[in-house]
Amino acid sequence: MDGQPEQIAEAVTRLKSGGLVAFPTETVYGLGADALSEAAVQRVFDVKGRPAHNPLIVHVSGEAMAKRVAAEWPEDAQKLAERFWPGPLSIVVPKAASVPGIVTGGGPNVAVRCPSHPLTLSLLEAFGGPLVGPSANVSGFVSPTTAEHVREAFEARDVLVLDGGACTGGIESTVVSVVGGMARVLRSGLIDAAVIGEVLGRVVECADSGVVSAIPNAATSAESPGQLSSHYSPQAKAVMVEAPDVDKAVATVERECVLITHSPDEIRSGPKRHVISMPGDARGYARRLYAALREADAMHPELIVIVTPPDESTNPVWRAVRDRLKRATTRE
Ligand code: TXA
Ligand code: MG
Repeated sequence: MDGQPEQIAEAVTRLKSGGLVAFPTETVYGLGADALSEAAVQRVFDVKGRPAHNPLIVHVSGEAMAKRVAAEWPEDAQKLAERFWPGPLSIVVPKAASVPGIVTGGGPNVAVRCPSHPLTLSLLEAFGGPLVGPSANVSGFVSPTTAEHVREAFEARDVLVLDGGACTGGIESTVVSVVGGMARVLRSGLIDAAVIGEVLGRVVECADSGVVSAIPNAATSAESPGQLSSHYSPQAKAVMVEAPDVDKAVATVERECVLITHSPDEIRSGPKRHVISMPGDARGYARRLYAALREADAMHPELIVIVTPPDESTNPVWRAVRDRLKRATTRE
């Protein structure tokens, strides 16, 4: 790509002086800063309006860099990194002393991930150190899957945005903890607990959408404090309903509804409703999900009605899709 080396050089200069650089990944765009600089990381929290207890994922160029931020690199971590990196898996391990407490929300563990986007891998290599990278959205709102989404969110802020095109995965990485010999999925994603279990040779618990959600304190008991029940939310009120209940939901509004559905044939057309058709396959749906929520919001509807997608019995990725939709339709 033309201009890429120059862009990366500019990005590295910014990062070295404590600045912010948004980068593309295969999941969503991240808001990058030097993970070992407390001041730079503080800027990320400020710009996103993120609560201090919610820890950040540390992005690395590979296993060697991961070991620099980890106090221990358990065999489980080794196996998972070998199998899934670069890719959409964040691995929680005990943190090294060099990682400032602000990165982990004051907790003893750090989540590390090696993303698979070539532009960002080049950036990590050129920078030569780990970068924090929360999703590049204002805290609580819909994650960005294009450079344009990031620019919109941080227009007024000093953020350099590297444009790597639309994200192919579309939803955030799976977060798995291997701390203390346990293996637990804390946030579902494109890589399912069952596949992780196969690699580790044992059953892996999936704690998202329930057990650890809504416990907002990393320093105490919550393993994944970012898993608040309300998250990924559009501005408009949004509800999730089964296809047969769509008419009932639409009947509650006076103005217009936007309907988001993977199964448009089941939806009657009519006044007050604008339909956004989603792909019927789980990966396609995940890829489109956040752009669709943004599109719906841009119409300023009175209500967004999302038709409940299939469950994970046909494809485990539906679990992650449903998890995001549940949070997008919860207000707390
Ligand atoms: O795909 C992704 O993971 C994207 C891209 C940019 O890499 N990043 C991302 O970051 O989604 P963020 O900050 O939006 O979500 C991070 C999630 C939160 O749920 C947080 O609580 C959890 O990871 N997390 C981060 N560090 C953790 C830690 N030390 N222990 C447990 N959970 C952690
Ligand atoms: Mg996020």
